[in-house]
Amino acid sequence: MQLEVLPQSRWAGWLAEAWGELTASAASLRTCLPTGTTPAPLYDEVAARVARGEMSLAGCEVFLLDEYGGLPAGHPVRCDATLQRQLVDRVDLDPTRFHTIDVDAADLEAECRRYDGLIASEGLDLTLLGLGVNGHVGMNEPGSLPSSPTRVVELAPETREAARRYAADVEVEWGVTVGMDRILESRRVWLLVRGARKAGILRRTLQGPVGPECPASFLREHPEALVVADEEAAALLG
Ligand code: PGA
Repeated sequence: MQLEVLPQSRWAGWLAEAWGELTASAASLRTCLPTGTTPAPLYDEVAARVARGEMSLAGCEVFLLDEYGGLPAGHPVRCDATLQRQLVDRVDLDPTRFHTIDVDAADLEAECRRYDGLIASEGLDLTLLGLGVNGHVGMNEPGSLPSSPTRVVELAPETREAARRYAADVEVEWGVTVGMDRILESRRVWLLVRGARKAGILRRTLQGPVGPECPASFLREHPEALVVADEEAAALLG
């Protein structure tokens, strides 16, 4: 797994540049995107570059990485609303090519199969991930295996706590996540890590044992995985 460590001031620009090179070199780019605090400055940077005509997401197909259950449609903490606000509304992506997970579907198992099939049909060219303080990627919580599919999951306490950071009155217990299997099948995977709060789990991910206690560690077995960390997050790496 390749590691790129950058000063905080260059983190978003470096990633936007690399993403822009990919979008420029491919007619279409099937991309899976996370929400959360980590990618926010990257999405700001991408929106600015698109506005200046320096980058385009017009050829992209975007798949949401995960979604909270139990929040009403349009709730600002929902991942679909968040990614819409953080990126989709600000760039030249065709809105019909933004794919979300219908957590309000009557048959959730069928919805997981539908969404998974959409991803699996042509796979993913690029998957961006945040790193949970418990080592999750997407909502693949500790205990997930490389073969874990797209599915309904019970959220770990740390993930429920993270949702409360986004909005104090939000209580979430479950979600739907793209599976570890599809993430590991993605042609490129970029693990985005920012801030001192993530330093311990980044060390665990890169230097601890590979295993289900830290699902992000499975990325070490991916041939095209790249960790892009700021210096604060990388501070504990030996
Ligand atoms: P954060 O969340 O970017 O808000 O820290 C990351 C995650 O839990 O996946």
